[in-house]
Amino acid sequence: MRVGVLVSGRGSNLQAIIDAIEAGTLSAEIAVVLSNKQDAGGLERARKHGAPAVWLDAKPFAGRPDSREAYDRAVLEVLQKHEVDLVLLAGYMKIVTAVLITAYENRMMNIHPSLLPSFPGLDVQKKAIDHGCKIAGCTVHFVTEGVDEGPIIIQAAVPILEGDTPEALAARILEQEHRIYPRAIQLYAEDKLRVEGRRVSVADAEPVATGFY
Ligand code: GAR
Repeated sequence: MRVGVLVSGRGSNLQAIIDAIEAGTLSAEIAVVLSNKQDAGGLERARKHGAPAVWLDAKPFAGRPDSREAYDRAVLEVLQKHEVDLVLLAGYMKIVTAVLITAYENRMMNIHPSLLPSFPGLDVQKKAIDHGCKIAGCTVHFVTEGVDEGPIIIQAAVPILEGDTPEALAARILEQEHRIYPRAIQLYAEDKLRVEGRRVSVADAEPVATGFY
């Protein structure tokens, strides 16, 4: 299975995926890593792994009414050129459009640092603390047109502790992201995920693989 990973930043989730591949616990090949940011740490991590790393600047597309779609058409071209089966958003901070979502329906995943459907969007660790939540976590889901709204594949929970800062909570959540993202991808690779409407079921699931980690 050939995966294409879209990143905007440091790429620690990409690294967790690379590590799982190198450890033999994830049966996938990184076909390409693409970033909208030239200095994204994820591009360097891809090169170290020996995978193609592509920076696709959004500037040339700016200022036209369909700039986001036009950018995504260019992204799609890169993904198709590298024969990507599954697209993984890993800290990709651009909103993807129908151009990509339609081309990779039920073949595009995202990781988000909250227990969706609570706290979609940005700064979600701070929002969970400010809301007074006692439990936070992360979610791997398929990507649909509503931002952070697609069918949920796996979630993991962590406690929110007295005196937590957004940074401390983000680090605690990130540890869980690194566990569940490779796991969700492996379930896909084994053809064990079935999407019916909002719900994703896991074939032959042991209790631990049903989505609560
Ligand atoms: C991760 O916490 C990921 O869940 C979050 O950005 C971070 C990227 O870290 N993604 C989003 O907030 C998407 N809405 P990384 O670059 O080290 O993988």
